[in-house]
Amino acid sequence: MKKTLRLALMALATSAFCITVIPTAISADSVDSAVKSMRGIDTQAADIAPEEKTQLGKKPGSQKTVSRSFEQQPPVIPHATENFDEITLEENQCLSCHDVGQYKKKNAPKIGDSHFRNQQTGEVMKQMSSARHNCVQCHVPQVDAPPLVENTFQTVKATKKK
Ligand code: HEC
Ligand code: HEC
Repeated sequence: MKKTLRLALMALATSAFCITVIPTAISADSVDSAVKSMRGIDTQAADIAPEEKTQLGKKPGSQKTVSRSFEQQPPVIPHATENFDEITLEENQCLSCHDVGQYKKKNAPKIGDSHFRNQQTGEVMKQMSSARHNCVQCHVPQVDAPPLVENTFQTVKATKKK
């Protein structure tokens, strides 16, 4: 009985030794050459967020809509959204102009037909699907920013011209 306890304690001590000693044996240099993290080795350095840019669009009602690049693309928001209240569970300012009962008097485009479909069954509903409540999850306002990565995408129209 005592012997097994002693063996167990020894095993425990050896594993504790491995955990504490082995990582310190790897020098900063060898990590740098072996594993490269995108953030680099200096994890203390603060991440610098890109500057926030002002939106290109102005008040709704003064923009042209932006042409779409492919079928089923959520159209981008041509107007500014900076001054709107944030979308919450209770409130959605976007709907005050784009909802069925509102769009005509606000002279705004009506929310898309797909927004009235039940996502699971495909059935057309009278009310907008709650899955579409967070508009800015799919529709985005525009800023003049350089592309983060090179992009050679061409719209269907652009490729047809050739
Ligand atoms: C004060 C009314 C108003 C509000 C509020 C508003 N919009 Fe608009 N929206 C418009 C009008 C008018 C247009 C037509 C283009 C223009 O004049 O800017 C438009 C255009 C759009 C388009 C382009 C549609 C297309 O076919 O290309 C999208 C997408 C859009 N809005 C989404 C939103 C979202 C999302 C919100 C909330 C964050 C929002 N809008 C809030 C009035 C409004
Ligand atoms: C899950 C993604 C998604 C969400 C959330 C969403 N939309 Fe859309 N929206 C789309 C797509 C995709 C289209 C293009 C297909 C269509 O017209 O249904 C579209 C189209 C539109 C159009 C243009 C309709 C037309 O006939 O040209 C407007 C305006 C619009 N959405 C407004 C809104 C508003 C306002 C909200 C929030 C209440 C919203 N959308 C939420 C994906 C989304």
